[in-house]
Amino acid sequence: MSEDEPGAGANDGAESGTAVRRDRFSGGPARVFMSSLADDERIFAADVAVDRAHVVMLAEQDVIDDETAGDILAALDEVEAAGHDELSDGEDVHEAIETAVIDRVGPDGGRMHTARSRNDEVAACIRYRLREDLLTLVRTVVDARKQLLDVAAEHTETVMPGYTHLQPAQPTTVAHWIASYEQALQRDTARLLDAYGRVNRNPLGAAAFAGTPFDVDRERTAELLGFEGVVENSMDAAAARDALVEATAAAATLATTLSGLAEDVVVFANRGFVELSDDYASTSSIMPQKKNPDTMELVRGRTGDATAGLQGLLTTLKGLPRAYNRDLQRAGRHAWDAIDSVTESVAVATGAVVTADWPAEDLEAAAGEGFSTATGVADRLAMAGVPFRTAHEVVAAAAGEDYEGDAPDVEALAATAEDVLGEPLTEYVDRETLAATLSPAESVAMRDSRGGPAPEAVAAQLATARDVLADDRDALTEHREAVAAAADLLRSEVDGYV
Ligand code: ARG
Repeated sequence: MSEDEPGAGANDGAESGTAVRRDRFSGGPARVFMSSLADDERIFAADVAVDRAHVVMLAEQDVIDDETAGDILAALDEVEAAGHDELSDGEDVHEAIETAVIDRVGPDGGRMHTARSRNDEVAACIRYRLREDLLTLVRTVVDARKQLLDVAAEHTETVMPGYTHLQPAQPTTVAHWIASYEQALQRDTARLLDAYGRVNRNPLGAAAFAGTPFDVDRERTAELLGFEGVVENSMDAAAARDALVEATAAAATLATTLSGLAEDVVVFANRGFVELSDDYASTSSIMPQKKNPDTMELVRGRTGDATAGLQGLLTTLKGLPRAYNRDLQRAGRHAWDAIDSVTESVAVATGAVVTADWPAEDLEAAAGEGFSTATGVADRLAMAGVPFRTAHEVVAAAAGEDYEGDAPDVEALAATAEDVLGEPLTEYVDRETLAATLSPAESVAMRDSRGGPAPEAVAAQLATARDVLADDRDALTEHREAVAAAADLLRSEVDGYV
């Protein structure tokens, strides 16, 4: 692009990108290989914001004059309006935007890059964009939790089988199962918010890594960009990507939570315990009778994207020396892949669960299969004074050596108990009480310890979960408002120059 054509900005091949560092590097066969311009679309808006904040600060510090600042800021408005696709070819978005500014302003546009480097610039862009993605993900998870809690509240008495080793273990409820995932999502939210605090710091002013002789005000660019404080050491500020790792790890952990939920739903669907809404199921192209839980399989499968992203990121970063190395250009994409995939999965996984039908009668019948009330019977005997180990022995004996999965009836239980105990069972517990414990609903109702599946115990969990949810929403709103306020501040400062 020739410099006497200010405003022209289309991708125009070989001559493009000449305004910055003119003839030193002409490109060559590795030009495309080195370029991150396509990937950088993700941080285009971030880079414009970072440029604006830097220019405003430079003008305030009298490093550049107000008129030049105004020209650069006006050019940035045009570049932003034209969009990423209109940038000329270049090594990356930072260079391409700078080129577009110089094309419009002339050589004084080159003052924009005073007292900085692309190293602190890209670090700031990544943090700026990542913070937005984290807030989007947190909002998605918070919304999902609200929906899960609402549905759980409808199912505190919907008894269902609970499993260990994928074998029928003890009866529980749909609410208890849902609340177990909501609880995990609470921690996933906390991890994301925790990462946010360390992501949202300003690396600008580090320049290449060794600071700058100019009198920059790092707190001011932090304020204009909504960062809460600065990354202190300039070498660390340019080099560190652990905030990216932390955010990606939190996303991958969340994906793992979702994969468990998805797997449960696949198993439940297989057993007829849940009927997915058609919106969340798929059919076979050849087998007309099929209704497949494809969405849940994809949620499970997408966990691979998240863990791959984390692995890719860590592998990229491992062993990098201080301060900046071009490997870092490949870091962001792993995080973006992971975070995007997880963000999409949250809504689908939750949507499938909250729109599903839970056939209560079938579930309760299944909950009694495999003598899954056995622990409840043993507990009942133990509560009546039989040592638990003896009670366990009674129930095991009653189930019999040729046990085929059905619960013994109360007569068999009583007889075995009397054999083992050497005294009448009625010394301990009446038959009616014992018979009741063979019912899955009773087995659930008994287990009213804190966090347990009894309806009132689950109701207490749901109440606490709603409190935590409200706190998380407040934290989210606070972050969103801080970011929006900074954007308003930056815009009004920019308007003072253009
Ligand atoms: N595109 C580069 C990146 O993403 C920007 C920083 C380039 N810095 C450098 N020293 N070559 O990391």
